[in-house]
This record gives sequence, structure tokens and C-alpha cells, in this order.
Amino acid sequence: MDVIIDTADSIGDLVAEEISQLLRTKSDAVLGLATGSSPLRIYDALADRSSRGEVTFAHASAFTLDEYVGLPDGHPCSYRTVIHEDFVARVDFQPGTVDSPDGAAADLHTECARYERRIADAGGIDFQILGIGTDGHIAFNEPGSSFASRTHVGTLAMQTRLDNARFFDGDIDAVPRHCLTQGLGTILDARRIVLVATGDVKAEAVRQLVEGSVSALWPATILQHYPAVTVYVDEAAASLLTLADYYREIAALKPSLPSPAAF
Ligand code: GLP
Repeated sequence: MDVIIDTADSIGDLVAEEISQLLRTKSDAVLGLATGSSPLRIYDALADRSSRGEVTFAHASAFTLDEYVGLPDGHPCSYRTVIHEDFVARVDFQPGTVDSPDGAAADLHTECARYERRIADAGGIDFQILGIGTDGHIAFNEPGSSFASRTHVGTLAMQTRLDNARFFDGDIDAVPRHCLTQGLGTILDARRIVLVATGDVKAEAVRQLVEGSVSALWPATILQHYPAVTVYVDEAAASLLTLADYYREIAALKPSLPSPAAF
């Protein structure tokens, strides 16, 4: 696990640059998109690059991580709507190339199976962006989730409903109780994972993710078993990391390391 401590703006630029490079070498890359406030600077930086003609999504496709159950199509808080407004509509994805689990489907379990199939049929996800919940969830995999889970119907934890009430005019009763979410096993199939966390509200979840024991209580800790994850955090989110200075040193010394080809 690589840990990079930087400003929120630089994090957005660094991740956008990596995605742009991927699309230059693999124009039909499959991206995994997260909703929430954490990835917004990445999307802003990608939209800027796209408007300058530096990157194109014309041959790419994407899958989102999760969705609330029961919100009608077009609801402003539906993640399908949110990702469209925050990112998809601002770049040149072709129609029908960004897929989300359908939380309004008549048969939710069939919808989960369809979603898994669609990801597999696309060849799997090349680059997955993740945020993290204050309770350590990734996508909507709440504490207690199986590390091997696939896309499934989940029940939101009270902490998540409290955190997300801000998107529902502060009304916790308006936050759905259920969700569809890629499972932890689904997420770990991605070929590259980047997790972004900013603000002191994420400091404990980041501490557990990077330095805690792998535990169902903090689902994101399963990423310690994943070989190619980079965790980007700002100073506030890094504030509880015991080894923060060491992570800074590793990052500073990285340019002087021999390139992998030399080994
Ligand atoms: C939500 C989403 C997650 C997201 C997390 C953090 O509940 N299901 O995918 O990573 O919350 O959101 P934010 O980045 O807004 O703090």
C-alpha cells in the first residue's frame, strides 16, 4: 500500500494524470467511478484536461460502485444522477457507456447478478477510484461485510445514513435504508485501485485502513491484501497515522529508486 500525503488539489491532479496516461495507452479502458465529495477534484481535473483536448473518454467505459434502493430514476440524490452531473456529462463518454446498479429495479437480486456480468463482460475494471466512509466502508460495504462479497443488496449503517443526510436536506428519514453495492470481492478484482480521503472526519478510518488490523469492523482494511493500491490523503486525513513521516520519506525518495526494469 502506497500512502501519499498531499493537498486536496494536488491529489486531484495526480490521480487525473494517472487516468489520463492510462487512457493514452489504453483508450478503451474501463474505469470504476466513486460518488461522494472525495473524488470531486479528480473529476474537475479530468474535465479540465478533457476541455483542453488532453484526454478523451470517447472509447472508454465506466461502472459506478453503488446506488440507493428505491429512489426513482432522476432523483437528485440517486448516484446515477450524481455521477452524471459531477463527471460523466462534463467529458465525452459515449451514450450508454457508463453503467450503474439500478436501485429501482423490480428484482434487485437479478439486477446485482446483471451488474456483475456487465463488469465481467467489459473485461473487468482497469482503474477503480474509491472514497471511504467515516465508518470505514468502501462503496456501501458496511462494517461486517464479507471480504469475498460480490454485488449485493445491502443495509446502510446508521452512521452512513447520518453522514449522507446532508445530501437529503439534513433529513435522515429521507435517506434510504438499503443499497445496491459492488462487493468487496468485486472491488478487489480491479487491476488498479486508488483511494482518496480528505478532512479530519476521515482520520480514524484512514488510520484503520493503513495501520489497523484487517477486520470486518473496518471493511476498507481488506485493501491491505491488495497489491496495487495507492491511498491519497491530505494532512487532516493523515493526522492519526503513526508512520506519517515515514510515508512522506518514502514518497520523497521514490524518484531516486531504480526503476522496476533495473531489478
Ligand atoms: C458514500 C459512498 C461511498 C463514498 C463515501 C464517502 O456513502 N457510498 O462510495 O466513498 O460515502 O463519501 P464522501 O467522499 O462524500 O465523504
